[in-house]
Amino acid sequence: MLRFVMIGTFAVILAGSAVAVSGSAAAAAEVELTDDFLNNPDNIAAGRQLFGKQCARCHGSKAYPGKAPKLKEKIYKPEFVYKRITKGFRGMPSWKNRYNEEQRKSITAYVVSKDFTN
Ligand code: HEC
Repeated sequence: MLRFVMIGTFAVILAGSAVAVSGSAAAAAEVELTDDFLNNPDNIAAGRQLFGKQCARCHGSKAYPGKAPKLKEKIYKPEFVYKRITKGFRGMPSWKNRYNEEQRKSITAYVVSKDFTN
């Protein structure tokens, strides 16, 4: 876990300097997904609720096979999950206009938590 956080922090620093150099807005990647936030049971509980409401219809045991890939939560870095939630990707909708940053971070906390099931 610590390793992921360090890599994540490094990525954020890199993204930050890329913005400084190019002057373009790189959006999504620059949030802080700290261990404290990700391990906080309140955030995980909030994320679980949102996941059940919005994500399970595509990413859920009842939805498989077909609508969406089964989530491989054990191999994801939190930054990846957050980015997919925020920006979407092909068949995966973006939730940026629907959920604020805190909510998107909470969903991420749930998906990478040991409580996650799908
Ligand atoms: C309308 C159906 C749909 C909904 C709702 C949906 N997703 Fe997805 N999601 C997809 C599809 C389809 C993909 C695969 C996109 C691709 O790689 O082509 C995907 C991909 C992902 C991935 C990347 C999986 C990987 O291994 O590459 C993550 C993480 C993810 N979704 C999380 C979520 C979360 C969290 C929510 C709820 C906020 C959500 N999705 C809601 C359809 C959906």
